[in-house]
Amino acid sequence: MLVLLDQTRLPAEEVELVCTDAPALVEAIRSLAVRGAPLLGIAGAYGVALAAARGFDVAEAAGALEGARPTAVNLSAGVRRAWAAHQAALVKTGDPTAAATAALAAARALHREDAEASRRMAAHGLALLDELLPGGGHRVLTHCNSGSLVSGGEGTAFAVALAAHREGRLRRLWVDETRPLLQGARLTAYEAARTGMAYTLLTDNAAGSLFAAGEVDAVLIGADRIAADGSVANKVGSYPLAVLARYHHVPFIVVAPVTTVDPDTPDGASIEVEQRAGFEVTEVTAPQVSATGAGGGIPVAPLGTQAYNPAFDVTPPELVTAIVTEEGAVSPVTAEALAELCARSRQV
Ligand code: MRU
Repeated sequence: MLVLLDQTRLPAEEVELVCTDAPALVEAIRSLAVRGAPLLGIAGAYGVALAAARGFDVAEAAGALEGARPTAVNLSAGVRRAWAAHQAALVKTGDPTAAATAALAAARALHREDAEASRRMAAHGLALLDELLPGGGHRVLTHCNSGSLVSGGEGTAFAVALAAHREGRLRRLWVDETRPLLQGARLTAYEAARTGMAYTLLTDNAAGSLFAAGEVDAVLIGADRIAADGSVANKVGSYPLAVLARYHHVPFIVVAPVTTVDPDTPDGASIEVEQRAGFEVTEVTAPQVSATGAGGGIPVAPLGTQAYNPAFDVTPPELVTAIVTEEGAVSPVTAEALAELCARSRQV
């Protein structure tokens, strides 16, 4: 079985979610009980191993897991890695148990590598922050959640802020609440509070006035998919922050493992952006709220209101100051520099 921390219940409760088959994991992924690009990859790989260990149809499980959410490329990459290991072992040995063991080993390797990537991203990210902002005392704005909840290690963008905090160089982490599902308020604030760093929560639409007041030195965000041209898909609301950052001459830094760069997606327009149910916008759906609306929450709009609810948006490369990976930073962000980075990573 696969045991996950149910992120829909945070911060009120730390509850484990037990998945005994791939359909349960698919549901956990769709409901965002497990979420965030690197973790989706790790969970997807473990899902394949779970199906194999339990003697289910592994091809069917892999297909369902891969299709559970479309935007984060890490999910399909994780699933495919475990699937490939399973198939190779099956061809070699003809033994389903050996194939299941190989899928599990692949999932564990991905899990370990993500932790290591996270450590290296934090170091590269902090070095870049220090270079861009000499003098320390960084006031960093982040969006969505990119800490240890989404990673085998300490995460991506959040790991950089944490490294700065540990070195005494983080003055404040500004945490966007991240409508509609509040990953910032519920998860990033939860993680920040546990580290003891200075942090302040703001509504997404308060970010503009914060920039205007000169209170933001840098924006640090993660990514769900980075196209070959450097376009960055991340939680909806990231693109407006990039526009604000450019207007206010503030660095906009994306932190993501190389596995988030997808050479098969040529540009931003080719990234499939997940559209989610309208009730996430028309209702307050926190799990602790009593059920009255269609989505199980309290309606905050008239019944029948249509909602536009993309889960992600795409920031063009020209608005991204740098992309920080475990292999180092790319700045300026160009297709050539990204391709070179991916090639270097494959050689390691
Ligand atoms: O819909 P979510 O919560 O899975 O979206 C997550 C994000 O957008 C994160 O910023 C992204 O996955 C990067 S996490 C390192």
